[in-house]
Amino acid sequence: MQSIAIRVAGRPPCEYEARIEKGLLGRAGELIAALDLDRKRCFVVTSPPVRKHWGEALLASLSAANLEPVVLEMADGERHKNLDSISSLATRMVQRGADRGALVVALGGGVVGDVAGLLASLFMRGVDCVQVPTTVLAQLDASIGGKTGVNLAAGKNLLGTFHHPRLVVADPDTLRTLPEREFRSGLFEGLKCGVIRDPEIFRYMEDNRERILQRDGEALEWLIAASVRVKAEVVGADEREGGLRRILNFGHTIGHALEAETNYKEFLHGEAVAWGMVAASLIASGMQRTEPELARRVISQVLAYAPLPKVDVKAKRIARRLLADKKTRDGVVHFILPVELGRVEVVPDVPERAVIQAVEELRYLSQA
Ligand SMILES: NC(=O)c1ccc[n+]([C@@H]2O[C@H](COP(=O)([O-])OP(=O)(O)OC[C@H]3O[C@@H](n4cnc5c(N)ncnc54)[C@H](O)[C@@H]3O)[C@@H](O)[C@H]2O)c1
Ligand SMILES: [Zn+2]
Repeated sequence: MQSIAIRVAGRPPCEYEARIEKGLLGRAGELIAALDLDRKRCFVVTSPPVRKHWGEALLASLSAANLEPVVLEMADGERHKNLDSISSLATRMVQRGADRGALVVALGGGVVGDVAGLLASLFMRGVDCVQVPTTVLAQLDASIGGKTGVNLAAGKNLLGTFHHPRLVVADPDTLRTLPEREFRSGLFEGLKCGVIRDPEIFRYMEDNRERILQRDGEALEWLIAASVRVKAEVVGADEREGGLRRILNFGHTIGHALEAETNYKEFLHGEAVAWGMVAASLIASGMQRTEPELARRVISQVLAYAPLPKVDVKAKRIARRLLADKKTRDGVVHFILPVELGRVEVVPDVPERAVIQAVEELRYLSQA
């Protein structure tokens, strides 16, 4: 089993483990019981598709460890990541006798994790939470780092807190039932960890592409653990968005703009980030901040994990969006640009022309 300690210097400081292993779902109860939280009831927040595949296995494991699970379903999907879901879940917790000693267990993807995390941080001013992520994105990214949140009509993740879980239990076997597109999309956040900090991840993804795409449990275990280690190092050094944590936004500046420009309908998050990483690499090489060879490598690796939706947006509109972002963000848009494999730099402003050129190139690459 891979066990990664996440140490956060925040106020108050905290520490917890992320456990990553094939088949671990069956031991979730035992691992939670070992936390010695001195309580029996646990409230399992999940959504119907996840419950269908993995609910029983988790419940059996919790019951076997003498924990008394209560299942609370929320409707599936990003559009239910809102305050209504929080208040509905909280109301049902009260009805089922939850008190300050309640434990919330999140079983699902990033949506369930973010909602359950926020629920735990608000319920009676804060109760404990355990994350049991079941998507690639949630296992290697969303369940680590303590960010919780919901969307408002006015924008994504506008309400949220920092509330770290007591434990993360990631079982790569649960990824077997993920829809293909969701599965591939999440892998790009792993690739991101390779480019920003750990070249070994990048090489592993080059060398083990078939095994990874076939969802080989051991290959996924390695990839997820290595990516979690990167995220743990970064958030450990910097819980909030200030300095080092910014590097996690590699590929996200243009990625977010692509998502927003297409009304969140064309790209899954990881897919937009994939194109964003290609764009950032092209920009870096165009500005002579890195070798063209690096851009070439990132592009071919991204395309090796394709298919990706076509980039069918006007480059000018993406540039304009970044300009608009700039006004709302104290006059700077930070770009994270690769310097060499495993190292990036934060560049406060990139000329509009470079952005336009890079997006044009994405359009071209995605038609090929
Ligand atoms: N807190 C953070 O730091 C952080 C970081 C990145 C993303 N996020 C958030 O994560 C969310 C996206 O998460 P996501 O990509 O996991 O999407 P998701 O939670 O919507 O899951 C995608 C789909 O897969 C289904 N699913 C999940 N696990 C499954 C399984 N094992 N088998 C079959 N189906 C399964 C879900 O029901 C859903 O329909 C966004 O809201 C984003 O803002 C949060
Ligand atoms: Zn992301």
